[in-house]
Amino acid sequence: MGEPAFDMVIRGGAVATATDVFKADVGIRGERIAAIGERLPPGRQEIDARSRYVLPGGIDSHCHIEQLSAGGLMNADTWESATASAAFGGTTTVISFAAQHVGMQLPQVIEDYSALAQKGAIVDYCFHMIVSDATEQLVRHDLPAAIKAGHASIKLFMTYDKLRVQDEQALDVLMTARENRAMVCVHAENHGMIAWMGKRLLERGYTAPKYHAVSHPRVSETEAFERLIAMAALIDQPIMIFHVSTREGAAIIRRARGSGQKVFGETCPQYLFMTAQDLDRPGLEGAKWMCSPPPRSRDDQEALWQALALGDLQTVTSDHAPYRFDASGKLSAGPNANFKQMANGQPGLETRLPILFDAMVSKGRMDLCRFVQLTATEPAKIYNLHPRKGTIAIGTDADIAIWNPRRKVTLSDAMMHDRTGYTPFAGRTVTGWPEQVLRRGALIVSDGKLQASAGSGRFLPRTGGPAAEPSGRLAPEMDSRRNFGARLYD
Ligand code: URP
Ligand code: ZN
Ligand code: ZN
Repeated sequence: MGEPAFDMVIRGGAVATATDVFKADVGIRGERIAAIGERLPPGRQEIDARSRYVLPGGIDSHCHIEQLSAGGLMNADTWESATASAAFGGTTTVISFAAQHVGMQLPQVIEDYSALAQKGAIVDYCFHMIVSDATEQLVRHDLPAAIKAGHASIKLFMTYDKLRVQDEQALDVLMTARENRAMVCVHAENHGMIAWMGKRLLERGYTAPKYHAVSHPRVSETEAFERLIAMAALIDQPIMIFHVSTREGAAIIRRARGSGQKVFGETCPQYLFMTAQDLDRPGLEGAKWMCSPPPRSRDDQEALWQALALGDLQTVTSDHAPYRFDASGKLSAGPNANFKQMANGQPGLETRLPILFDAMVSKGRMDLCRFVQLTATEPAKIYNLHPRKGTIAIGTDADIAIWNPRRKVTLSDAMMHDRTGYTPFAGRTVTGWPEQVLRRGALIVSDGKLQASAGSGRFLPRTGGPAAEPSGRLAPEMDSRRNFGARLYD
């Protein structure tokens, strides 16, 4: 008998990609998928996947890990705890944030954040660079250098006192992104409206977490989307609008895409499964559901599902932003804190896929291919990780989650592996669970146990690529710039 043909064979499962579901064996050699076929020869290791789904590992392209919040508070997770929780939830790649606060130098921010990730990551990773201080040095030198080094996406905030950029700075960053072919992701809410509403609510004694939702009026989302899209049109730069929460917001993206602009959109479980009423709980309990933008209404949920079905929105991410419900997190301003003093965000790396699988596949809202597309393939394509990540094909990294579609699990705080101490989905029973998870051919979760060590996740360098390419149609008012030597893509 010679050597086994494969290191691992996943046998007899229903393999799903963004386009097809088919019964096949998957043969893995080293870190990659080497064969997909019927009756593959034996592997050194075998996994019986009969009556299981064999899916690409999830890609969570929006999660805050070991990062300073907008208010300057460190979030609850380390790279190790966050990416362990990702793995248990079937996610094998994360894109988190190297966050430049005002006064910080971007190269140092990236170096420090890379060291943290290298030490702790269990799944593969890359970063969006949060830019809050768009100095000459940053837009002319630091940002292009970082993009060339493989960090081909940027995040801007249009709100939050400490992180937001003004329109002129946003335009500078959009232009730098265009020249260097990076994606620009944006938290788009109108800062003035939110600050003004918050102040008036507090002045009148409305301090409870539920007023957080009132303080983010729907028009704060729509105004910011329109302004952002106009700025991106001026520069002809592709953008990703993060965490779309309203019916109107989704419609604005639909219209922009319909007119040919490269605008992408994401939403999150917070907006598909929760409403503003979730913040209305006794005492400060509602703070656990506080995130920005806030969850809205059932009508918005339906509109967002429709936008996903139509392709107006392309990804569903967790926006994992973990803050404990104690003095180290949500209650850092004390037990009488008002909603403006509480860190925004919910944990979600671990629950994102099971919650979505249950709604989409088990309950039948969408099919398995769409689930794969929205949670793995599309984020891989938009952020230039595809085809290495986000699908199951010969030659791709063997990042695979093996799902038992019949397993029922009731989610609880205690079963979560991140450090937030709670899940907003506690008590919800889902059908379908990722029982075994492989990252580059290594089984990292099996039998409910983690089998990978901190630091075994790998950095994924990304240079700009097709998804970030501008359309080549400059806004007419920008044409003159060419005459002044600006290097714009045609
Ligand atoms: O509430 C949220 N989403 N917190 C995380 C930071 C952000 O806004 O993305
Ligand atoms: Zn945000
Ligand atoms: Zn976020």
